[in-house]
Amino acid sequence: MKLSLDDRAPESIDNDCLVLGFAEGAELTSSARAVDEASGGAIARMLQSGDIETGIGKTHFLQNLAGLAASRVLAVGLGKLDKLNLPRLDRACLAAGKALRDHPLTRCHVCLHEMEFAGSDAGRRLRQTALAIHRANYLYTVTKPRKDDAPVPLQSASFQGGVPLQPALDQAVALALGFEKARMLGDLPPNICNPAYLAQEATAIASQYDNVELEILEESDMSELGMDALLGVSRGSANRARLIVLRYSGADAAQRPVALIGKGVTFDSGGLSLKSGENMMQMKYDMCGAAGVIGAFVACARMQLSINVICIVAAVENMPDGDAYRPGDVLTSMSGKTIEVLNTDAEGRLILCDALTYSERFEPEVVIDVATLTGACVVALGHHATGLISNDDELADELTSAGDAIVDRAWRLPLWEEYQSQLDSPFADMKNVGGMPAGVLTAGCFLSRFAEDLRWAHLDIAGSAWKWGSDNGATGRPVGLLTQFLLNRAG
Ligand code: BES
Ligand code: MN
Ligand code: ZN
Repeated sequence: MKLSLDDRAPESIDNDCLVLGFAEGAELTSSARAVDEASGGAIARMLQSGDIETGIGKTHFLQNLAGLAASRVLAVGLGKLDKLNLPRLDRACLAAGKALRDHPLTRCHVCLHEMEFAGSDAGRRLRQTALAIHRANYLYTVTKPRKDDAPVPLQSASFQGGVPLQPALDQAVALALGFEKARMLGDLPPNICNPAYLAQEATAIASQYDNVELEILEESDMSELGMDALLGVSRGSANRARLIVLRYSGADAAQRPVALIGKGVTFDSGGLSLKSGENMMQMKYDMCGAAGVIGAFVACARMQLSINVICIVAAVENMPDGDAYRPGDVLTSMSGKTIEVLNTDAEGRLILCDALTYSERFEPEVVIDVATLTGACVVALGHHATGLISNDDELADELTSAGDAIVDRAWRLPLWEEYQSQLDSPFADMKNVGGMPAGVLTAGCFLSRFAEDLRWAHLDIAGSAWKWGSDNGATGRPVGLLTQFLLNRAG
């Protein structure tokens, strides 16, 4: 889908649909006013009569308006003006985007970002609007090609505005690319998207940019490095593990990189601690951490940000087998620390700990790991917030404010040393599970033991990476948060 700017008079723009926003307690935006005048006051009359509703996310297609070059108008409710903020604008734009996608039209012109509200600036509103329209238009087609009776995705959307908004639109285009990549990878079935597939995907990305390099470690390479925690998880699978390392050089080589690490469990059966059917059903999404860091990496490369980034994807499959690792096994991680495996379903931390140790060789400025790590995180925070755990207050603040700025929000959870003793083991330096209390925190405690010499943060996206229930599908999060973080760092 093509995104562009157009600053001609909105009533003169000749396409399938003009998209206008209305808020309770607000004046008409300049586009709405122009359309009202061209149509002889029809807009004002429909607001009066209630044919246009201002409730947040309400959408109405308006036909046969006089004086308009476009075939129709989509009126979108933005709620009460004094309550309007970026998250609410995002929500209304997603609703508008869904209405547009589900309607047989292909070209639209959008003015939803024109509504000013407290604390907002035009560029941020435009970026959020364009990204939301693009995200709502996503349709998975890899294994289910679109049928004739299916929704007709938009081909293009233009947005009211000109040259001053171009940088914000360019960011939206890059973010949209990153989100789309992450969602597509997340939605792919596990018999297609396995560790080798993720490696292929990285190869394709590396070939697209001159300043991106790729290294892929096979199991023999990892074995030489002593990554026996990661390799332990992989042993039960017929699909060989990969450690995928993408390097983006956008700044001087002397500048220390940001390292992004993604959990890429392409299917999590639980291993010998087998999940129940119900819990296993969604576990193709257990590589959404990998998808998220790849998506943010793509967005960064597309914008050619002045920053160095290392993207490390630990790609494995967790399966039961005669050769699979067992509850009771003691594994030696690359760091030399030993781990008693009490539950083979707590596999994410076992692959991430070796990836964290591996990241040290790049002398990163900061390291952020991203993982669908615990069901406990979903219990704690639900689907709206990503869980954030960090050993560095400044880094944690940077990440939360990046998430706030692009409506891809994270909420910090404590990393108090009191929780650490839940990991004590009589047989190894630690065990891989901390019991029922605070499962999201003890997972963070486990990882923190491999990040002692790093400025490190962990994002648990178990609740935010995909939508549960009937509207099932990957969300692409936290591509927004990570990309905004990189944008802020690149200056
Ligand atoms: N991938 C799962 C976490 C998960 C579960 C994400 C449900 C999203 C929805 C992870 O590997 C896992 O199985 N974690 C266990 C840890 C437990 C054994 C300590 C969990 O959360 O139950
Ligand atoms: Mn698991
Ligand atoms: Zn898992």
